Amino acid sequence: MRDCLRDATLAPSSSNLQPYELYWVRDSTTRQRLAEACLGQPAATTAGELVVVMARRDQWKTNLDKVWDLMTQGGRISLPEPLDDYYHKITPRVRHTDALGFDNLMRRVLFWFRGRRAPTVRSPVNTGDHRVWAHTQSSLVAMTLMLSLTAHGYDSCPIGGLDKLRIRRLLGLPEQAEVTMVIGAGTRRPEGLYSQRIRLPYGDLIKEV
Ligand SMILES: Cc1cc2nc3c(=O)[nH]c(=O)nc-3n(C[C@H](O)[C@H](O)[C@H](O)COP(=O)(O)O)c2cc1C
Repeated sequence: MRDCLRDATLAPSSSNLQPYELYWVRDSTTRQRLAEACLGQPAATTAGELVVVMARRDQWKTNLDKVWDLMTQGGRISLPEPLDDYYHKITPRVRHTDALGFDNLMRRVLFWFRGRRAPTVRSPVNTGDHRVWAHTQSSLVAMTLMLSLTAHGYDSCPIGGLDKLRIRRLLGLPEQAEVTMVIGAGTRRPEGLYSQRIRLPYGDLIKEV
């Protein structure tokens, strides 16, 4: 599990800010309550291990400081000015949000004006954008964890049918921390599959333009 969890963190993330956390729930009481919060689904109750994938949009600043510290080896290495600007001017400008949403409003106006003349990023301009941003990174981590489990000879099942509020409280996390999904890991039983693996036709999903 530790190898797979470590692999998962190799997933790419926006600005390398890694706004997620993985909770490998090992305590038996917490595990039982987690399986209940997954609505008692077999994917949770019968899994060998359970991992909660959390999106942490609230941690962008803490992680930025940590990432910068690692990149500069605690300030011993100086990095090119554009990189410094990117992390200390541009990134805070798009990530910071004040309580009244003034930053979001300013960005909305700025992006709109700039977007009339040239290709421009269109988000984030609201809390939803910040949430999508964090869930995007945490989903990539979740997928990387599942790929690593497969590579190690195990099976997994992502679980999205769950009580996010109960799980967040179970882990004692603040409101801005959001459950992306729970991943059940282990060795599947043949009767655990609902059907053969099927997919929509290639042409429905993939467009060559
Ligand atoms: C975000 C997400 C949420 C899911 N939630 C559940 C779930 O709550 N319970 C479950 O049994 N499977 C869940 N699944 C698994 C899907 O049902 C499964 O991936 C899909 O049916 C395709 O099957 P396959 O991955 O075995 O090919 C979820 C998958 C994803 C990506």
